[in-house]
Amino acid sequence: MQTSKTTNAAILAALAFAAALGAGAGRAAAEPLSPVTLRCEYLVNSSGIDERAPRLSWQVVSKERDQRQTAWQVLVAGSETALASDQGDLWDSGKVAGDDTTAIVYGGRALVSGQKCLWKVRVWDKDGVVSDWSGPAAWSMGLLDKKDWRAQWIGYDKMRPAEASHADTNHPPIRLAPPPCLRTEFDVPKKIQRATLYGSALGLADFYLNGQLVSEDWFTPGWTDYTNRVHYRAYDVTKRLRQGRNAVGAILADGWYSGYVAWGQTRDRYGKKPRLRAQLQIDYADGSQDIIPTGPEWKAATGAVTSADFLMGESFDARLARNWTQPGFDDRGWNPVVTGAEVDPLMQAHPGPPVQVFAEVQPKSLTQVRPGVYVFDLGQNLAGVARLKVKGEPGQKITLRFAERLSPDGSIYTNNLRKAMATDTYICRGGGTETWEPRFTYHGFQYVEVTGLKKRPSLRTITALALSSATTDAGRFECSDLMLNRLAQNTYWTQRANFIDIPTDCPQRDERLGWMGDAQVYIRAATLHEDVQAFFTKWLVDVDDSQRQDGQYPKMAPVIKGEGDGGPAWADAGVICPWTIYETYGDTRILEKHYQSMARFIEFCKNRSSGGVLPPEKFHCYGDWLNINDDTPKTVIYTAYFACSARLMGRMAAVLGKANDAVMYNDLFEKIKAAFNRAYVGPDGRITGDTQTGYVLALSFDLLDADRQKVAAQLLVENIQKRGWHLSTGFVGTKSLMLALAGIGRNDVAWRLIHNDTFPSWGFSIRHGATSIWERWDGWTPEKGFQDPKMNSFAHYSFGAVYQWMVENIGGIRSDGPAYKHILIAPQPDDKLTFADTTYDSIHGPIETHWSKKGGHFRLKVTIPANTTATVVLPATGVSEILESGRPVETAPGVRGLQWPRTLALLEVGSGTYDFETK
Ligand code: BGC
Repeated sequence: MQTSKTTNAAILAALAFAAALGAGAGRAAAEPLSPVTLRCEYLVNSSGIDERAPRLSWQVVSKERDQRQTAWQVLVAGSETALASDQGDLWDSGKVAGDDTTAIVYGGRALVSGQKCLWKVRVWDKDGVVSDWSGPAAWSMGLLDKKDWRAQWIGYDKMRPAEASHADTNHPPIRLAPPPCLRTEFDVPKKIQRATLYGSALGLADFYLNGQLVSEDWFTPGWTDYTNRVHYRAYDVTKRLRQGRNAVGAILADGWYSGYVAWGQTRDRYGKKPRLRAQLQIDYADGSQDIIPTGPEWKAATGAVTSADFLMGESFDARLARNWTQPGFDDRGWNPVVTGAEVDPLMQAHPGPPVQVFAEVQPKSLTQVRPGVYVFDLGQNLAGVARLKVKGEPGQKITLRFAERLSPDGSIYTNNLRKAMATDTYICRGGGTETWEPRFTYHGFQYVEVTGLKKRPSLRTITALALSSATTDAGRFECSDLMLNRLAQNTYWTQRANFIDIPTDCPQRDERLGWMGDAQVYIRAATLHEDVQAFFTKWLVDVDDSQRQDGQYPKMAPVIKGEGDGGPAWADAGVICPWTIYETYGDTRILEKHYQSMARFIEFCKNRSSGGVLPPEKFHCYGDWLNINDDTPKTVIYTAYFACSARLMGRMAAVLGKANDAVMYNDLFEKIKAAFNRAYVGPDGRITGDTQTGYVLALSFDLLDADRQKVAAQLLVENIQKRGWHLSTGFVGTKSLMLALAGIGRNDVAWRLIHNDTFPSWGFSIRHGATSIWERWDGWTPEKGFQDPKMNSFAHYSFGAVYQWMVENIGGIRSDGPAYKHILIAPQPDDKLTFADTTYDSIHGPIETHWSKKGGHFRLKVTIPANTTATVVLPATGVSEILESGRPVETAPGVRGLQWPRTLALLEVGSGTYDFETK
């Protein structure tokens, strides 16, 4: 039997990692069951963990069908020698019975700051055969106590902008200034064992050691409510240091801390004085230690980066570039730094992935729209920056501007960027080819306009660097319909463009906020493209930090002042997102961690509701945002979402073993449901407003009894039919529209909607060139052109929530219960598609389906990860109609049971790859 391509990739990756660590490689694949993909806190080889009892996880792979783990043993050691001789001097779990492979809580000796932990695992299979030890994996602890921070906050305030520095009269004065460069030198007198740089900033910091950028991360330390909490990252820099003289430095930009953030041309949202805090910890081979902390002995100046801002862009004067991060640089003319910060936040290790370049995109075409004005088309809307490669004269200024769309005359369309200048400038040093990319800004764009060149550029003049939080790809979808493939791609790219440390609404205009409504609408689709567990672990703390005193969740997190009242469907992200992470990954710690704040939110909702269940007279609600002439009453949305959150709380309480709470929240759900029916469901079953979204909410939140469900289902379909088989839903309804249709057995209607290319539909935007998901169904129409530039993003993921339906119904991959431990495989093809290939890398390993239709035969190849089971649903009326790898299905290894409810066959299978064919 074949293992899948993805499984092989996972094994190869695991083996490569083992080889890199110098032990254990090459052994795993021979046994019946082998552990691979070792992770700590759901990150591979993670540096700087500050969970004192971190969670370990792995996957098991097997070439045999129906394999599972029956026991495991973890060894954690403080040195490679100990681990190589099978000594868990930090933790030896012993043999533990069970099939758990995730959330294994470290249970060994107390870990100390900076500790390096090496670990491996072995597993016992279903017959009690033990595997070899896995290759080694590693993690290191962060700085666990406040007192471990010897570094001071430092900065250089001289350059703070006083007044206008931008000449563009369309904009009120923009105040920008060069970000400071900060440096010091130090001696390394002895042989180094290990060196770690812990770095943070109130602002953004790029760290340099001996002339080299320390890491490929962007925008360190990410966005938090800096008045409360700031993250740091730990970098292993052992190889970057040398015996003798060394130099360490950083460029410190304003970033989210004090740069322009969101609308209203507003900067300094957290403070006016960016700060850097870092310490380089050197452990010598002789057991001694040195710490090089930021402090008053550092020096500051400005450099070649002459301005840097997320919204406005970045400028670089190459004539000013110096080797200031090298040892021996003459810094006598540099200035003393200032110490101390405006805020005193908690320092914590960043629990999520860093922002990094995930793709380099070469332009597809280039046009000269006016003399000297060149426009590059990347063929893909993305978030990131452009790398410029030019030969210029000293002092020659080259300007880059960015846009998602073109105006009819072919020039870039920038009105929808609002007050985001999105302009980068480069001043040439002269004398050869120069390459530059900004580091402290990003733009949302498909087109780059370049001016200031002396001759026509080539396609190689520009390379787009697509940025995103470095979540691991988890999904792949391809079918015989090119439009659907584009749709899947559009959701993927829009997710990438908006997962920039937090889940933002858009990457281009002066907004880019962690909008709660958008996040909860899209999160389940997000899990199917990327492994977002650690990403949301981080953001959900931002959500708690932004919760209002009275328990209400905000509109966005981190919250912008005055925006603390999220309102229905936005605030509820505080409950829906932790639940979704649990559902997808089985993560109970995330539920425990946020349980109290979620409970406070439910209390808040109860207290302000009339009779504890129905909406108060006045409340804020965005409604079914951006629907098409089908506005759902806000009262309906309020009540439906309150019910939804109460019900999820009940489920979470049950998962956490809080039986009384579970009863209490379930009871609350029932009360809200009853009130919903009394208040909004008419005797004929019509829901107040009679909108698609109203029915979708009632159906997907289980607010109706069986009879009324049937009526609602019918009314939903009638509404769609009335609109010429078109949807009319906004953010709130689109989340579950397709899923609700699947749920009522009307995937035939869902297929109509997804094949549409007339307005409003997903296909409409694609027919008009969309390479990303638009904020609005009518972002551009042939009749009206562009929508209102005040709110018209071409990279907003909410409507991309449809990707969940695609994976679950076209690919037929669903989790049956939490974390894909039991999987339901049930593709529901329509007549138009001839094949579909879908992959989802679950927390237990890759799940794949490949189905095709030929001459009345339906073929389904499916891969189920080891240690999980699945129910496979096939269209067949009798056992003789199904073959598996050419043999009668009932003789196939791994097939444990068969049932025939009417025209479907339900096969219970163990892990493995199966090749089914129905006649
Ligand atoms: C954002 C949204 C957000 C909405 C609130 C917009 O400006 O871009 O995505 O959810 O406001 O209604």
